[in-house]
Amino acid sequence: MEQLYNVTDAFTMVHPLTLVKGKNANVWDDKDRCYIDFVGGIGVLNLGHCHPHIVSAIVTQAQALIHYAYNAAAHQPYQNFMPRLCEWIPIKGELGGMLTNCGAEATENAIKIARMQTGRTGVIAFDGGFHGRTLAAVNLNGKVAPYKRGLGPLSGGVYHIPFPSSDNDISDQQAIAALERLFAVETDVANIGAIIVEPVQGEGGFQLLSATFAQYLRSFCDEHGILLIMDEIQSGYGRTGTPFAFTHLGIEPDLLLLGKSIAGGLPLGAVVGKAGVMNGLPKGSLGGTYSGNPVACAAANATLDIMQDDEVWQSAKHYANTIESTVNEWQQQNLSAWLYGLTGVGAMRGIELRHPTYGTHPSVMAHVLKQARKQGLLLMPSGKHRHIIRLLPPLTIEPETLTAGLDILKAVLSGIPNEMPKL
Ligand SMILES: Cc1ncc(COP(=O)(O)O)c(C=O)c1O
Repeated sequence: MEQLYNVTDAFTMVHPLTLVKGKNANVWDDKDRCYIDFVGGIGVLNLGHCHPHIVSAIVTQAQALIHYAYNAAAHQPYQNFMPRLCEWIPIKGELGGMLTNCGAEATENAIKIARMQTGRTGVIAFDGGFHGRTLAAVNLNGKVAPYKRGLGPLSGGVYHIPFPSSDNDISDQQAIAALERLFAVETDVANIGAIIVEPVQGEGGFQLLSATFAQYLRSFCDEHGILLIMDEIQSGYGRTGTPFAFTHLGIEPDLLLLGKSIAGGLPLGAVVGKAGVMNGLPKGSLGGTYSGNPVACAAANATLDIMQDDEVWQSAKHYANTIESTVNEWQQQNLSAWLYGLTGVGAMRGIELRHPTYGTHPSVMAHVLKQARKQGLLLMPSGKHRHIIRLLPPLTIEPETLTAGLDILKAVLSGIPNEMPKL
């Protein structure tokens, strides 16, 4: 593949565009062409592009103090944000946390914390799960290509089991049987320090974890002294229509991972958990030069201001209702034989493209992405076979922009050839 602008050709670029500006649910490219953005920088912009309140907080903070490393000296934006965040997360009891530069770093730190607190190195993760691209995080991903190819042996003690969900037809019994097999064949349960799971898989295709299985996992972890880590880097911060997706499952995690939309577009992640888990670790074992940078924290505080206002939840509800009723209508109209249905929950919805005869086919998604872009709509794929369109518009999308985006999507889906496409 051709290397462009001296950037490694190892990136997959879904859209061959150069963007110059964005406003809420729209972006403009260098030719001043406007697109409706259902990608949101891959789930980072739940409050849209350049929200004025967040921009103003960034500018004000940049004029006061751009950087200090929290390991060297504290600063107010971090000190303001952490208690507010802990207060907002609906986990009972006292919470504590740390900030990171991104999601993968949050994953890495959670695994370190679990190892240090339990004295065990084993981790159970899920098929189709995604937790980041750093070396330890990559091993937790439930997918070999493209994440683990060419890397050689990865840090040990990671075991994968099926992810049970009504979205993928994997039952609780299948997942429980896999867990039982694991402890009969692979390792002793006493070696496991953590189970990491996304309440709604992002990269895996916007699939909602079975609530009964989540409750089983909670009791299992309690019984065996295992920490339950919920990765809400994509599903959190309002994506499902509630602040956190774990509340759909009726359980609380021990550790919660956040990232993406937490700071309105600036790089920030977080590990938050029960104070008893987050404290008592070796001094100096956690931290980082940039993690919790003042400008990112100021953006996070501004993001939280908006998240704590009712308006965003009304808008998220409108989005969630619209997407559900619209796609149901398309199905009733037999819009396309490839339209299999919706995955996910609330405002975190995927559209599965699966033909009753031909199953899934990569060229169908390629066709949809290209045609949608031509008509001014940016989309992003997900799922095991890249066959699920993940819809990540801002929760604050204007109703008329949402309608316009869905109209384009309708036209594109209705244009997929019903027979096996040669696209
Ligand atoms: C659920 C989940 N965890 C972790 C990550 C990694 O986050 P980052 O790309 O910020 O390292 C992602 C990114 O897509 C994600 O969706």
